[in-house]
Amino acid sequence: MDVRSKVRVVTDSRELALAATSEVLRHAREAIDARACFRIALAGGSTPRALYAELAEHGAEQGADFSRWQVFFGDERCVPPDHPESNFRTAREALLAHVLIPRDHVYRVRTEVGRPNEVANAYASEIRRAFDLAPGEMPRFDLALLGLGTDGHTASLFPETSALEETERIAVENFVPRLDAHRITLTIPVFNAAHAVLFLVEGKDKAPALHAVLESDITERDCPAKSIAPSDGSLQWLVDRAAGAELATVRQAT
Ligand code: 6PG
Repeated sequence: MDVRSKVRVVTDSRELALAATSEVLRHAREAIDARACFRIALAGGSTPRALYAELAEHGAEQGADFSRWQVFFGDERCVPPDHPESNFRTAREALLAHVLIPRDHVYRVRTEVGRPNEVANAYASEIRRAFDLAPGEMPRFDLALLGLGTDGHTASLFPETSALEETERIAVENFVPRLDAHRITLTIPVFNAAHAVLFLVEGKDKAPALHAVLESDITERDCPAKSIAPSDGSLQWLVDRAAGAELATVRQAT
């Protein structure tokens, strides 16, 4: 892991949410100072819920200027936006419904527009417009939040799946055999173009995967989270003590 990547072990889920909130708000301040807006790609799954709730409850009082935020999604399940498994629904319930982010600054993956490849292409087009990209240019998110699956996946970049090979497209459809389902995901080059990537990992069930990503020679194809290494950006791992239990090279939280 290069020197700009760093792993911070905190005591528990509560500390993880508080530390993550501070980091997100720091990145937001820096982005708004530098570029007058903060473009964040939210992580899916359950880990970030506590972070989203903390941002909703205390972000404004800690100086968050949500009017400058533009919210995207690192990945999405191919379900309607009000489905219990929708990452958009999770973010809306925990964060977006409670803060003053302009509605047209929230870029939902519109899973209803058609087949998975059409959804992915439509989402990529929205991102190109939002970032005003030149042809072939990758979007540079100010911050990409990511989680880690027990199998080493991140976003919807699952082991041994086709999305891992993508080097040109911004977002792709990805069939995941073990789920027997399609997902929509931003691609590895997009995450690696980000100004900052922040992984949030909690719970003892993630300890083997976290050790594999950070301390083993497992291949990126078998552990896609290992592919995430921003070429000109920071990589941070915020983990709780349970998830960090198998890390040999990182000091446990005091
Ligand atoms: C998703 C996420 C996925 C998630 C990990 C961890 O859509 O499920 O993008 O990559 O971050 O699976 O999920 P938990 O936080 O629920 O453990």
